[in-house]
Amino acid sequence: MTNLVLHVKDLHLELAAAFQAVTVDAFADNPEHPLRKVLDPFISRSVQATNDNFKLLFDYHAAEFSLAPLPVDEQLKLIDDFIREQPLNLAEMDMEVFAQHRNMSAKYSTKEAVDDPSRWGWRWHYRSLQVQRLYDELLDCRLGARFNQGDAEAIDDEVVMQWWADMVKHMPALNRATRLNPEWASEKVTFGSLKRVLRVLLVWLSWIHEDVGHSAASYVYNPVYTPMNIPLDGVGVPMRSYVFNVAAYRGFVFLERAALMDEPPNFWFGTETCSGWWMFQSCTTPADDKSKQCFTDFQSKLKAFGDDDKAFSECDKTGFYSCVDRVETAVSS
Ligand SMILES: [Fe+2]
Repeated sequence: MTNLVLHVKDLHLELAAAFQAVTVDAFADNPEHPLRKVLDPFISRSVQATNDNFKLLFDYHAAEFSLAPLPVDEQLKLIDDFIREQPLNLAEMDMEVFAQHRNMSAKYSTKEAVDDPSRWGWRWHYRSLQVQRLYDELLDCRLGARFNQGDAEAIDDEVVMQWWADMVKHMPALNRATRLNPEWASEKVTFGSLKRVLRVLLVWLSWIHEDVGHSAASYVYNPVYTPMNIPLDGVGVPMRSYVFNVAAYRGFVFLERAALMDEPPNFWFGTETCSGWWMFQSCTTPADDKSKQCFTDFQSKLKAFGDDDKAFSECDKTGFYSCVDRVETAVSS
């Protein structure tokens, strides 16, 4: 469930692929558009993630090692069943209502409940909710001054309107939200709808993507714990499976990737200008200080969670979650 359905089907297939492709296309002629700048970190490595990744998983059967202990055909059938029987609605993936939609009381997703060992707090949800709220603030900070009309008026910007229309068209989960929950995501883009949709996409594509699957990577990729890497007689580790995994992950997965806590590059905030010629050319990107400040404030608050909040420190060797400084900005591999 964690790796195959939540991670690969929901995040990679249904959300990331459409979000990344639509965003790249919609802003191709307007790469300096402020919304494109805000989304830049969250669409990195999109081509690799949506093409080669699936070739590796399903053509070359890496899914049998890393997603679920089932043959690839069975996995695709399961994915298909989920798509048809339990279709995603983006509005129900909003961390603000995620518990309510699942008949969980909000009292389990509080710091008090999560910190108290005598109570059963919903740690995963508590963490995701806190991070989603940081995204909400970041979006207000980056875009509020330009677009903020709440839900009262549609955003009057051709590029944003076209991007929204394409998103609704190509992302079934958003399309369903506009039909079933128009107060959450309206058909015409308002700043309120834009912010709710983006905060949900960003938290799922960065934070939750890491938590559902990658946080357990060290276990999944270790042949001792991977069912498909255990030989029929139960003795040792099959050499061919092991070599395949090592080659795939060394050559494909362990690549340069942007993490939320990295020093952010200036092109996420400002316009690059170049002078000179070819190898003598020098380019600079004077960052828009206010936009960059929004992002570094976001990073400071996230770091504070990692430093001070117990629920955020139970990561890597001390838990099943991802450490704050390891979370990527975008769905990659
Ligand atoms: Fe992934």
